[in-house]
Parts: sequence; structure tokens; C-alpha cells
Amino acid sequence: MTTSAAFVDELEAYKDALLAPIVAAGATSLDGAATQDPRALLQVALANEIQVSELAAAWMPTTREIDVKLAFARQAGDEAGHFQLVAERLAAHGVDLAAYAPPTGSPLFAYLRDLPSTVERIAAGLFTLESLAYAVNETFMAFCEARGDAETVRIYRDYIQPDERAHQLLGHALLAKYAVTPEQQAVARATVTRLLEIAQATRAATAAKLGVACLPGC
Ligand SMILES: [Fe+2]
Ligand SMILES: [Fe+2]
Repeated sequence: MTTSAAFVDELEAYKDALLAPIVAAGATSLDGAATQDPRALLQVALANEIQVSELAAAWMPTTREIDVKLAFARQAGDEAGHFQLVAERLAAHGVDLAAYAPPTGSPLFAYLRDLPSTVERIAAGLFTLESLAYAVNETFMAFCEARGDAETVRIYRDYIQPDERAHQLLGHALLAKYAVTPEQQAVARATVTRLLEIAQATRAATAAKLGVACLPGC
């Protein structure tokens, strides 16, 4: 039987291979992004941050393992902080968020919310979604840099990205701890696959709507 540490290392490589085309699709659209309104992209970031915060908060009381429960609690708070940082950037761009309501009906978040087991939640949320967020945020930062929005780059570099990396590393460690049987490891792998299929489709739909694919994540 594969040790769980070796399994998670192998799953990292598998996940990175699936992530590569999604991240590349965002990067290739950077060239055509010069005319893109940065407010539309910041609003995508805002929606992601609040939805991930709500997701982690929803999972917290229904997750039995105390270290995973605390990981979700911590994440819910971190993502709320990211929401506030992004909201401040939108305010600086003249967007009034006083009446902001989080979006509903996302197929990605509907899938995530219904995941019943701890292994599935770690695999989909911390391990995969946070990796996707980190990677696509790097592309978004390049977009902001190219547009001369140094302050948005700074908040991502100094605050948001270190948190997303920490969430991802926590997901790696927790998966190594809890995905120990062949059955749990098969479930983790299938969850990574499904999550990225849905994320790819969701991002493609948003990109088509906005005309640019360098969308930030959570
Ligand atoms: Fe995160
Ligand atoms: Fe975040």
C-alpha cells in the first residue's frame, strides 16, 4: 500500500498537471487585457472570497476532526479578510459595495457545499481550490502590474497570496493525515478530478462573459 505521504505527493503532481491548462488559458488572455475594466475582475475576486469564506464556515460545524474543523474556521476568517482587502480596492476604483450581496447559484460552490466527507472537503477545498486560487492570482497580479495598479499587486503579494499558500499547505498536510486507506485515496483523487472539471467549465463561462480569462481566485 502506498504511504499517505507518498500518495499526497503523487496527487500534487496529478493536480498540477490538470491545473496547467486552466492557468495557461488565463495567462494567454493577458495580451488582450489592456482594454479590460479591472473592476470586473476585482468583482470576480470579491465573489470568490466571500463564497469560499461561507463554504469553510458551513463545513466547520459538520466536520468532526478537530484539526480540520479549526482549519476551516481559520480559512473562513482569512477569506473574509481577503474580501475586505478586495472591497477596499473596488472602493478606490469608485465602486459602491454598501448593498453588496454574495452571488448564489454557482455550480462550483454547490458541488463543494454538498461534499459529505472530511477527505473530500480537504481534497477539494484546501488542497485543490487553494492551489487554483494561488496560481490564477499570480496571473491576475501580472495583469494588475501591466495596468499600473501597484496597490492591488501589493495586497495580493503581501496578504492574500501568503494566506492562499498556507491554506494549500494545510490541505496537503491534512490529506496526508486523513487519506490513509486505498478507498479514501481513490475518493480524494476523484474529488480533485471532478473539482477541476467543474472549475474549468465555470471559469470558461465567466471568461466568455467578461472577454478575458485572467480571473482571480479565492
Ligand atoms: Fe484561500
Ligand atoms: Fe482568499
